[in-house]
Amino acid sequence: MDKIYLVLPKTIGTINPDIYGVFAEHIGGVIYDGIWAPDTKDNINGFRRPIIEKMKQARIPLVRWPGGCFAEIYDWRDGIGPREERPTRINFWHYRDGRYESNQVGTDEFMDFCRLCDAQPYFAANITSVTPLDIRDWIDYCNSPAGTTVMAKLREQNGHREPYNVKLWGVGNETWGDGGDMTPESYAMEYRRYVTVMNNASRGLELIASGANCFDYGWTRRMLETLDKSRRLMSGMSFHYYCGGAGDPLTFSDAQWYELLAKAGRMQELVERHWAAVVSYGMEKQGKLVIDEWGCWHPEGSGPSRGSNLFEQQSTMRDAAVSAHTLNIFNNNCEKIRLATVAQLVNNLHALFLSGGENCITTPTYHVFDMYKNHQGGQAVEIIAECTSCAEGVPGVSVSASVKGGKLTVTAANLSAEKDVTVKLVPFGGALGGQAEITILGDGDVRAHNTFDVPDRVKPVTKAVSSFDGTVEIPRGGIAAVCVKVEK
Ligand code: AHR
Repeated sequence: MDKIYLVLPKTIGTINPDIYGVFAEHIGGVIYDGIWAPDTKDNINGFRRPIIEKMKQARIPLVRWPGGCFAEIYDWRDGIGPREERPTRINFWHYRDGRYESNQVGTDEFMDFCRLCDAQPYFAANITSVTPLDIRDWIDYCNSPAGTTVMAKLREQNGHREPYNVKLWGVGNETWGDGGDMTPESYAMEYRRYVTVMNNASRGLELIASGANCFDYGWTRRMLETLDKSRRLMSGMSFHYYCGGAGDPLTFSDAQWYELLAKAGRMQELVERHWAAVVSYGMEKQGKLVIDEWGCWHPEGSGPSRGSNLFEQQSTMRDAAVSAHTLNIFNNNCEKIRLATVAQLVNNLHALFLSGGENCITTPTYHVFDMYKNHQGGQAVEIIAECTSCAEGVPGVSVSASVKGGKLTVTAANLSAEKDVTVKLVPFGGALGGQAEITILGDGDVRAHNTFDVPDRVKPVTKAVSSFDGTVEIPRGGIAAVCVKVEK
């Protein structure tokens, strides 16, 4: 039997709820026919009610918007004022899918979506194709008190008297690539220029530097070198990591299951090594990590739109296992991480929802976020896992634990595609209460997924256990969440 030792007195840090954020870009079917579906029966102010309700249920705290690459051609002024007068522009992704951007969802609509979902916005500012003054004006529009500046008056004229107080701003996106094709040094200088103006527009902003692609640790070091730690300019530093190249999203082999899980597990190395660079520049306070794009990137065409929505993919228990493993890594490294946003929310890569017309379903990945929500704001507990690995770079069980309000939450994913496991939770420095609630996702079919026809093929099952002895059975490829009182 695999054993999970919980070292209860040893906490790692507080798990920032923002680690459970999502990303919603103006790409393919994420916004239009994704969250925004004003012609469907079940909408609130144009946004899909099922998505809003499920976002609240899973307590998704944060939404990154409007891109991604889209952000770097976005002029926020196109998205305000009467909707029928807004300009149609070439979307960044037009070269891939031929779609245009109608600007029907702009700042005011997006802020309404955040309000409806009880989520905080995290805006990505364009530093490739607009000026610092344009971004200053956007911040002014969002944050200046009612009746003060011309931008605050414009906001009021558009029906929103009170400021939105948007605190989190990303400064550029993937600036090593489509976000300006910069060097780390030239980006750092652009960053300094933009944030000087941005900080001047509103107090208390948290500005996030756009960092490296995956394993490019050299980029991180060179960028930090030029950023200059003596100036408190930064509240976080991002990197992006997608894992893919491991077969078809639905018909992958067992070998490809392990290949993908091994790739997902490299998030641990990414967190450690980017963080090591931050520490080596003495920037631990300014440079907490922001993983604002992560998830699986499979070949297109497996989603309900059959390839019409760019990058849309189906999501099986394999994607759920990647989610569980990644979120466990984030929890176990929570002292280094400011926030994370999975890419993307709906009808795209690693989505929580799939929608089209009147259809809207949750994916297995959504259920993982819902099952993990009790970790938010908890104290992560140190864990020693005694389990055999199931393939090179893939532990048999991926696990994290946290304590909040006297309750312990343990989330464990069985990363074997072939064998069911029994794990035993063994507490040190405390005891587990006799009653527990155990939720299991998965029934041994590692390729199971939800469709418009069978929307609940994959859903969690919760049971109450009255005399819990720490034993949890997890089917192959399945995920467990255990909630139990901790007693001294
Ligand atoms: O998530 C899709 C795209 O992937 C984003 O726009 C970009 O930032 C990344 O390359």
